[in-house]
Amino acid sequence: MALSGLFLCLFLVGHLLGNLQLFVSGQQGADNFNLYAKFMTTNPIVKVLSYLTYFSIIFHMVDGLILTIQNRRARPKKYVIEKGKANSSWASRNMALLGTILLVFIATHMQNFWYVMHFGEISHYEIKGQNVKDLHHVVMSFFTPTSNSYAAFMVGFYVLSMLALAYHLHHGFVSAFQSLGLNHIKYNKIIEIVGAGFSVVVPLLFASIPLYVFIKHYL
Ligand code: HEM
Repeated sequence: MALSGLFLCLFLVGHLLGNLQLFVSGQQGADNFNLYAKFMTTNPIVKVLSYLTYFSIIFHMVDGLILTIQNRRARPKKYVIEKGKANSSWASRNMALLGTILLVFIATHMQNFWYVMHFGEISHYEIKGQNVKDLHHVVMSFFTPTSNSYAAFMVGFYVLSMLALAYHLHHGFVSAFQSLGLNHIKYNKIIEIVGAGFSVVVPLLFASIPLYVFIKHYL
């Protein structure tokens, strides 16, 4: 769980850095994003990383499910008095629920963009002799109310999913270090601070992309 989780954290950083290019306006921004998307889908090393990401998502999900079932079986009878709040956070007690929300998000998200990029009908154009797919237009129109009548709903869904991601990361990041035995009284505070920062900054920046595209339409 810990290794696949930390690998997925690295994926999130890479994915976020690429997606931040969506904030660059004008044709230059669109060209940069489309060239980047072409590189990400054709470069052989990135392709291997992509397969590793799909594998990690599936492994993390199946392992999480097995662990949840084992935990339930280990204590089939409920405690008479349960005071979870006393020594654990809400996120740590609801990792399976948060993970399920994220699974629904990832499945929907892959259909929204990944499927369209790889198998959908998407317009092409030339940049400096390179034929690129206009994925920038797909993302922009997906979150723009005049192009997609469900844009407001999708923006809400993306933002709420990022809230689930924040809580999932808040517990998961620190917990991964503990599972790997990499926690130490000397470094625990640093791991906690980095984990807290990561779990706020990454989901916030992700959520700001659909919000920005949606609000930009009204400015
Ligand atoms: C909210 C802002 C986000 C935007 C605008 C966005 C955009 C995109 C786009 C355009 C693609 C297709 C690119 C391609 O096929 O190479 C993609 C793929 C993907 N996204 Fe996102 N994404 C966002 C957030 C996330 C989050 C938070 C996760 C995970 C929790 C995620 C997981 C993935 C995965 C696993 C893929 C497939 C990557 C691959 O094929 O290597 N995305 N995303």
